[in-house]
Amino acid sequence: MEKDIRQPLLHADAELRPSSPPRWRSPRQIATHLIVLLSITCFAFYSLNFRPFARTEQIPSGWLERCAWRDLSPHIDLLDVAPITRDEFLQRQSILAAALDDAGVDAFITEPSASSSYYANISTSFELSERPFLVIIDKDAQFSYLAPKFEVGRIAGLEMVYKDKKVIEWPEEKSPYDVLAKATGYKKIMLDEHARFMIATGLQAAGIEAIPTSQTIQSLRAVKTEEELRILRGINGFTLQLVRSLQKCIKIGMTQESVVTAASRLFGRAGVGKSFWAIVLFGDQAAYPHGGSSGKTISRGEFVLIDIGSKLHDYGSDVTRTILPDGSKVTKELMDVWYTVQAAQAAAIELMNVNETCSDVDAAARKIITDKGYGEFFTHRLGHGLGLEMHEHPYLNGANGEKLRTGEVVTNEPGIYVTSEQAKKLSLDVGFGIRLEDPILVSNQDGPGGIVMTGSRAKSPYEP
Ligand SMILES: *[C@@H]1O[C@H](CO)[C@@H](O)[C@H](O)[C@H]1NC(C)=O
Ligand SMILES: *[C@@H]1O[C@H](CO)[C@@H](O)[C@H](O)[C@H]1NC(C)=O
Repeated sequence: MEKDIRQPLLHADAELRPSSPPRWRSPRQIATHLIVLLSITCFAFYSLNFRPFARTEQIPSGWLERCAWRDLSPHIDLLDVAPITRDEFLQRQSILAAALDDAGVDAFITEPSASSSYYANISTSFELSERPFLVIIDKDAQFSYLAPKFEVGRIAGLEMVYKDKKVIEWPEEKSPYDVLAKATGYKKIMLDEHARFMIATGLQAAGIEAIPTSQTIQSLRAVKTEEELRILRGINGFTLQLVRSLQKCIKIGMTQESVVTAASRLFGRAGVGKSFWAIVLFGDQAAYPHGGSSGKTISRGEFVLIDIGSKLHDYGSDVTRTILPDGSKVTKELMDVWYTVQAAQAAAIELMNVNETCSDVDAAARKIITDKGYGEFFTHRLGHGLGLEMHEHPYLNGANGEKLRTGEVVTNEPGIYVTSEQAKKLSLDVGFGIRLEDPILVSNQDGPGGIVMTGSRAKSPYEP
């Protein structure tokens, strides 16, 4: 869609080129020609690189990416973090086994999911079909799986982690659940929360009682180890640096799509582009927390909301900043709203200690926003757990009486969203959406509050 930026230069060149025969006669004329040529080149250069872009089509494709990369590339070593080791996978299996024993169940059963990824390195890239492939860890830490007989070869090729394995094959002419019951003798199992209903009913029909994942076992995955925290710090820290590098280069007139494209390429250049996602919203489009229509360009006086992430070793990043391009200003009222969101985030971080209740943390952020009169415009929960899943336990919302545990990583993302329609009633010119989000590590002592996994919080719309 963007025009080739070299076009005008070529035209200028062509006009300058004398028609044959060449009529250079004196050194003076040659010098004049050179000066004219130089002036035009300088002007073209100036208009491409230094003048704030007035129209979208003047922004060369790839310019934003190149500009941001200069700032971002020194931070690439943030991603230099080791993946989860075999020992840690085996450790997870034995911790799970002990918890199953305590709970009085024979085994934990999951389909390919974040849980199978967590316990045995079997990711969801093995897609679910109507034929069950079940990953099993029992109370003696025995790893096994139930697989369709004709798929056994393909499944054996996965990079699973186990001490030793038992394979339970089910032929097409038999019920997989009857085969499982007969092979294991299980009476009662705990089923992963993402397992499908047909798995639960199939097991029950074969005489195996299936119970939902307990909170204790859920929290094994919610509480992060040092290895996991290093990965989460790496990818979230890098993601924030990427947003900062974009802020330095975004110009009035750019489209939302050009920002998304640049961001995607920046993650790609850093080697973590595969799971990239982004929500980029300008001005009143951000009044809808998850989107607006495409094609909009940034105008002066509009915030840019960037909610963005990717994955490193299967662990996700999730960072939001609401920024202003350098030189762009919003009204004092809008700046005040920005600082209200910042204060709400701070109030909740202070509470993100062990044993604080999820609903209380949500309420702490909400109170700051409500006191400023924007309570009804903070329309979503405060945050969610982050790890192998982009949204996982625990959830910071008003209905969750669960207590935080040391080592959980939870996003803290207050926002205020006012549509242009609603703005009129508040005597504001135009709608807007402002959100600030950092993943926070729940701290182990009372008092200091959570630890910011991106490295630092936003200081202003110009210092994200
Ligand atoms: C886990 O699987 C990935 C591929 O999905 C592989 O690169 C990695 O080495 C595996 N980890 C272990 C500890 O085997
Ligand atoms: C958190 O609560 C649990 C159970 O109520 C208690 O055993 C533990 O000591 C508490 N932790 C802290 C740091 O207060």
